[in-house]
Amino acid sequence: MEQKTFFIKTFGCQMNERDSEIMAQSLAGYGFIEGMDMYAADLVILNTCSIRAKAEQKVMSLLGYLRKFKEKRPDMQICVAGCVAQQEGARIIERMPHVNLVIGTQNIYDLGALLEKSVSQGSQVVTGLKNDYDIPRFLPEIALPENSFSATSPALSSRFRKFVTIMQGCNNYCTYCVVPYTRGREVSRKVKDIVDEVKVLVNSGIKEITLLGQNVNSYGKTNQVDPSNAKYAFADLLKDVSEISGLARLRFTTSNPKDLTDELMRCFRDIKNLCAQFHLPVQAGSDRTLQRMNRKYTVAQYLEKVDKLHEYCPEIALTTDVIVGFPGETDEDFAETMNLLETVRFHGSFSFKYSDRPGTRASQFEDKVAEHVKSERLALFQKRQDEISIERNREYLGKVKKVMIEENDTTGAKGRTETNHIVHFTEPLSSAPGDIVNARIFFAGQHSLQGKIENQH
Ligand code: 5AD
Ligand code: SF4
Repeated sequence: MEQKTFFIKTFGCQMNERDSEIMAQSLAGYGFIEGMDMYAADLVILNTCSIRAKAEQKVMSLLGYLRKFKEKRPDMQICVAGCVAQQEGARIIERMPHVNLVIGTQNIYDLGALLEKSVSQGSQVVTGLKNDYDIPRFLPEIALPENSFSATSPALSSRFRKFVTIMQGCNNYCTYCVVPYTRGREVSRKVKDIVDEVKVLVNSGIKEITLLGQNVNSYGKTNQVDPSNAKYAFADLLKDVSEISGLARLRFTTSNPKDLTDELMRCFRDIKNLCAQFHLPVQAGSDRTLQRMNRKYTVAQYLEKVDKLHEYCPEIALTTDVIVGFPGETDEDFAETMNLLETVRFHGSFSFKYSDRPGTRASQFEDKVAEHVKSERLALFQKRQDEISIERNREYLGKVKKVMIEENDTTGAKGRTETNHIVHFTEPLSSAPGDIVNARIFFAGQHSLQGKIENQH
């Protein structure tokens, strides 16, 4: 009998990518194999994001498009997972009756059983969100063949870089943000489960791990993660994971500046394999806006942390997230965000127009900024950031950087620096993917660098 195929389309953040990987692995246990064509698959899963309205609209239009394929092949199963599933639940099936399963963010571990139930009993909606949720232990099975490519998650098909979830949910309630409603309360995984998972990965050849959580700085605060140490914190976890033998590079994301401790910042100085790269979302450069966003820090406090980080790790590359056009943001407030950009000179940033999200406090604020003003501000911000990114990249010209090779074929090679900059090589290298080489940077573009191998003697 022919095996059934699945195709997972992932939207949104790395947390969703990791969840897609977990779903893909569990489907293997139900006799599915991964297909390369979404429209020909027996099972299509859309793992969705609802952080901004646009992300959600994309999902709805793709679901509408899939209806035609399902009419031709009624056996095709369609599943909606992730944050839109969590938030919209049964409303998805009301609008899109051809959907077989709506599965919430904490329910993906039951995917196989729920799919079977949807075949025997009709469409299912399972979106329970528990406050005392215990993230299941999920030891990765990474039997990825040589040169394998996962359409589910190209970023995760790497044989030497992986994400490991260390916590889920968020308790911060930034007024614009939907995450506390889609991912629930903050829960941290047990130290032992995380360390075991990283060891399995490293033993199978993984060289680089990124620890994932919505707010990693508060790891271990809402539930005890180490039975023998009630004070175990994120900096302890970083140290413990960094010492796993064979792990070449360690990263983490994401951090809320309000909880960034000196101890954690010192890790960038003290932990040798912790990469000199830090994503520290600031969101706005005006204290008034930050307060209305409920961010619980001021611009001055943010800048103080940036200075400390540079002191502990001079080569650190900082990136950030910014929202423009938050309700009530004046021209003066926005000018302060532009000033912050000049002060910090981020290596890169992700910037977004404020988008109303259902259930959030900011969606009730009355002084909304006009769409054309948001667009103008975003364009100004992004133009200046692009210029700064190139200027920052040019600082690497002539320098020798350690690059972990990711791809290498007859046309050339590609890898990443510790600072997370992509480096292209125009000639094929003798090194294998996963190797770390010394490269002298001779060209700096907007999004990447070019390098040549530097002989070590
Ligand atoms: N509107 C626009 N951007 C948002 N983000 C989060 N919520 C919203 C929203 N309602 C941005 C923040 C966050 C990033 C992941 O998405 O900058 O850090
Ligand atoms: Fe999108 Fe946030 Fe959900 Fe990630 S956690 S998928 S960014 S809404």
